[in-house]
Amino acid sequence: MTIFLNGEFMPIAEAKISVLDRGFIFGDGVYEVIPVYSRRPFRLAGHLHRLQQSLDGIKLANLYSDNEWTAIINELIARNEAQDQYLYLHITRGVAKRDHAFPNPPVKPTVFMMSNPLSVPPADLLKSGVGAVTAQDNRWLRCDIKAISLLPNVLLRQMAVDAGCAETILIRPGSNNEPGFMTEGAASNIFVVKDGRLLAPPKDNLMLPGITYDVILEIAAANGIPHEVRKIAVTEVFAADELLLTSSTKEVLAITQLDGTPVGSGKPGAMFAKLHKLYQEYKQKVMRA
Ligand code: PDD
Repeated sequence: MTIFLNGEFMPIAEAKISVLDRGFIFGDGVYEVIPVYSRRPFRLAGHLHRLQQSLDGIKLANLYSDNEWTAIINELIARNEAQDQYLYLHITRGVAKRDHAFPNPPVKPTVFMMSNPLSVPPADLLKSGVGAVTAQDNRWLRCDIKAISLLPNVLLRQMAVDAGCAETILIRPGSNNEPGFMTEGAASNIFVVKDGRLLAPPKDNLMLPGITYDVILEIAAANGIPHEVRKIAVTEVFAADELLLTSSTKEVLAITQLDGTPVGSGKPGAMFAKLHKLYQEYKQKVMRA
């Protein structure tokens, strides 16, 4: 596997970083996951835009322009074998003596990128759907930053795995007398379907603005699927006809069990079938363009 590290392409076995890297010491950095279909990065502009937002959020300068990123990304794709890949892009505040405050003067950020073969969910999973559990969203208040410090997400996702499930749906407690509300999954965005209507939580500081989330809402708008972006109460999650999960590596999946209880009919529903088909068509169209 060929990776990119600090301006150079090399075999992963030759890649070395310092133990003083602030990514290692503090989790002080941001990342992106970019799907590649037939050797072409999918929605690259959106990923590079979100990367810039994340860098701005942690006050770290971007070493490369979008054109430079595109060239590096295309080179990395070319140097790896799979037709469909997913790129992991990771930037930290660099190597410095351990001190919480930013190094002054600033040091060079560490820039790392690797590619892995992308396997989209297999047919049996599309047919059965996946299970999920719910848990309190105990993360910080800047979940819109795609930060590499993922310990809360790691612990929350493990709760799902321990319960034999695929994802943990996160619930924030409501303020005053308001009910709790859903933010997202530990590593995905979540949609609720009720009475033929697709409901999505609003992009704010409490969730990652998913690129797949954007695609799903664009598809809904373009195909006359009734949809609404608004705060979703926890009671609506439990009363859903369907629940959907989206991410760059999972695309769109139906959640058919929640905390051990069937969601709706307990089978992937009509909205899932429609959106999954439209998503595949959209992918094909974009890849042909
Ligand atoms: N995670 N929310 C969280 C917390 C995520 O980690 C992810 C993706 C998403 C979906 O975003 P997108 O559609 O842009 O992939 C939402 C990636 C895949 C990961 O960490 O591996």
